[in-house]
Amino acid sequence: MDMDAKLLQFYLDMKSPEAGPWNSSPQCLHTEVVTRDYIRKTFPVTEGMQVFNVGIGTGDWDDYLGYWLNGRGQLTSIEIDEEICELFTYRQKREGHPNPATIICKSIFDPSLPKEEFDLITLIGSAINEVGEFTRCLDACFRLLKRGGYIMFMANIKYSPIEMLQEYISNTNYTLEKQDLYDEFPEYPFYICKLRK
Ligand SMILES: C[S@@+](CC[C@H](N)C(=O)[O-])C[C@H]1O[C@@H](n2cnc3c(N)ncnc32)[C@H](O)[C@@H]1O
Repeated sequence: MDMDAKLLQFYLDMKSPEAGPWNSSPQCLHTEVVTRDYIRKTFPVTEGMQVFNVGIGTGDWDDYLGYWLNGRGQLTSIEIDEEICELFTYRQKREGHPNPATIICKSIFDPSLPKEEFDLITLIGSAINEVGEFTRCLDACFRLLKRGGYIMFMANIKYSPIEMLQEYISNTNYTLEKQDLYDEFPEYPFYICKLRK
């Protein structure tokens, strides 16, 4: 399949009977609005800001981050799945994204990743669960983060209880500066936290 055919299939999959019900649901749209609004209200964009996102998936969040930073900062996104990396790179190019992500097609656990290079790291949605190894994943994110930098952590309460995060932080020198719970839709309750290195 050539890349345009793969891209068409990607767009069709987003609207398929499997993904469509969730993607078009109020729960999904609410989660997206809250998460996007949270980052722009909580973290001021500074000149040359370096942001890092863990797990591309559909790439919608990465697209948004690139627009948010456009003209001032850069996004680096890591993703372990080579096909996702290839299609996301092609899609951003084909759609003419003005501030495309630099993509690292590796695991977040790869020892060759840079140390203390980023101002803000985002870990949202099912990323922490899909990566697995809660503590090791957060350790890897903090390793990438500059001193004084932040992690924006968003997760579903049912799959990643907030107590797990609080316990993790209590065993480190990092701080949990802010935690907000969103349970307007009890079927998908989630929280967003601001963590500082
Ligand atoms: C569902 S996506 C998250 C997408 C997005 N953050 C969101 O929730 O809207 C999680 C991604 O993490 C990737 N992933 C899983 N393990 C990983 C690892 N060890 N390092 C980097 N990416 C990984 C998966 O391939 C998947 O594409």
